[in-house]
Amino acid sequence: MGRDEPPARPELTVVPGGQEPAPDRIPRRPDDPPEEEADAVVLVLSGPNLSLLGQRQPEIYGRDTLTDHVARATLTAAEHGLAVRHVHSDYEGALVEAVHEARGRAAAIIVNPGALTHYSWSLHDALAAFDGPVVELHLSNPGRREAWRHQSVVTPVATGVIAGFGGEGYRLAIEAVVALLKPGRH
Ligand code: DQA
Repeated sequence: MGRDEPPARPELTVVPGGQEPAPDRIPRRPDDPPEEEADAVVLVLSGPNLSLLGQRQPEIYGRDTLTDHVARATLTAAEHGLAVRHVHSDYEGALVEAVHEARGRAAAIIVNPGALTHYSWSLHDALAAFDGPVVELHLSNPGRREAWRHQSVVTPVATGVIAGFGGEGYRLAIEAVVALLKPGRH
């Protein structure tokens, strides 16, 4: 290398298959409500395997898809002047990031963490740092199922839990948020 040549740039190593897909975050979009309307946004968070709803163990989770459930939540929210932002990911870190990004951008979180319910302390910690109400939501009633589902590490940081009512739970969760957002409730 001559004296005036710039130093060679180190090669970037790309590890095939080692990268997660870009997380489904909640960046601001053109159709987002203005920043000051964050108190009208509810983040609905869906964890691993929930994208398979409709096909996955329908005898437990029903035939409705995740899109159906989110549509139900969105309709109920609209009746109360609230907007739903939905984030689904199979990746724990993406869900943690979505909770971080909801700080100051959403008034409440409804979270069905899937199996992360039972062991994700990072999701627990992220939710603990969120200021508004947190509704933990399950289609099934984990307390009636296998013993390993009986513990939720999310419950200690949730305002309340709705479980066992199938898709109806999405409507109930929005109604709970509406009640909790009334001044002086949370
Ligand atoms: C679930 C219950 C969890 O135990 C399970 O791992 C899920 C779905 C429910 O909605 O009933 O993935 O959160």
